[in-house]
Amino acid sequence: MHISFRQIQIFQTVAQTENFTRAAELLHMTQPAISMQVKQLEENVGLSLFERQGKRIVLTAAGRSMHTYTCEIAAKYQGMVETLEELKDVHQGVINVSAANTSIYFITRMLAGFSQQNEGITVSLNITNRKTLVEQLQNYEADLVVMGEPPANLDLHSQRLMCNPLVLIAPANHPLAGQKDIPVSAIIGEKFVVREPGSGTRAAIERFFAEHGHTFTSTLEMGSNESIKYSVIAGLGLGIVSLHSIKLELETKSLVLLDVEGFPIQRYWHIITREGKWLSPAAQAFKEYVIAEAANYSQDYQQLLL
Ligand code: PGA
Repeated sequence: MHISFRQIQIFQTVAQTENFTRAAELLHMTQPAISMQVKQLEENVGLSLFERQGKRIVLTAAGRSMHTYTCEIAAKYQGMVETLEELKDVHQGVINVSAANTSIYFITRMLAGFSQQNEGITVSLNITNRKTLVEQLQNYEADLVVMGEPPANLDLHSQRLMCNPLVLIAPANHPLAGQKDIPVSAIIGEKFVVREPGSGTRAAIERFFAEHGHTFTSTLEMGSNESIKYSVIAGLGLGIVSLHSIKLELETKSLVLLDVEGFPIQRYWHIITREGKWLSPAAQAFKEYVIAEAANYSQDYQQLLL
């Protein structure tokens, strides 16, 4: 049994108007063309779908049965058209953004600014560590990813956003506080509170020490920058964190930066999409907003190093 989508549309319109002429007007067809299509449909189905009652065209029992399905098909079709229209609209839609833990200090503020200007767009923000972000890129899960260095082994579109200097932090009363040009050897015996393996910050710390001929060993590992900051303030050890995460603590002087050779470790933030992943106009707008805002943030943070 072959029923074309056009025949379903014609059937649905005739069933609702109960009038061939009216249906023809709505579908921009001639009345004989409508009658012909209905006749052909009835032949294909092998049942009468309409019967004449005076001037009215009414559904037969078979027609009523078919009508319950065509109503559903029409509603689904309408839903599909609306969804596709929404996707074309830059002012609507849902964007899935995944971002590194350490980026919360700027990405949340950017998100607030973007949301104020784009009330129809919902941004679903997933905050996680580098290891999970790489897996998400691999599986085409997120529309956009904000992270440190892009993984080298994947096809990606990656754009540098701004510097992400990793600084060495200590409690204000630390003996090395205020000293200039401290050699790396002076901190080798220190206790360190750092991020967990899998974190991009952690990988950069390990690379730094390896490049200076030392194997890095941590005293305490923590899954968030906030816990590291509080641990350092409490005197549990030194920390190495992104400058973005300690703006308030530097302003209130509850933490200080140690001037150790090789610090800050220079890294960069990137905004990344997986090659082949389609970006909706809304996601594209968010990406452009973040890139434009990053330039302002960069200047803000560089001042903290002065
Ligand atoms: P992290 O990410 O929060 O996993 O350390 C930062 C980065 O990718 O550099």
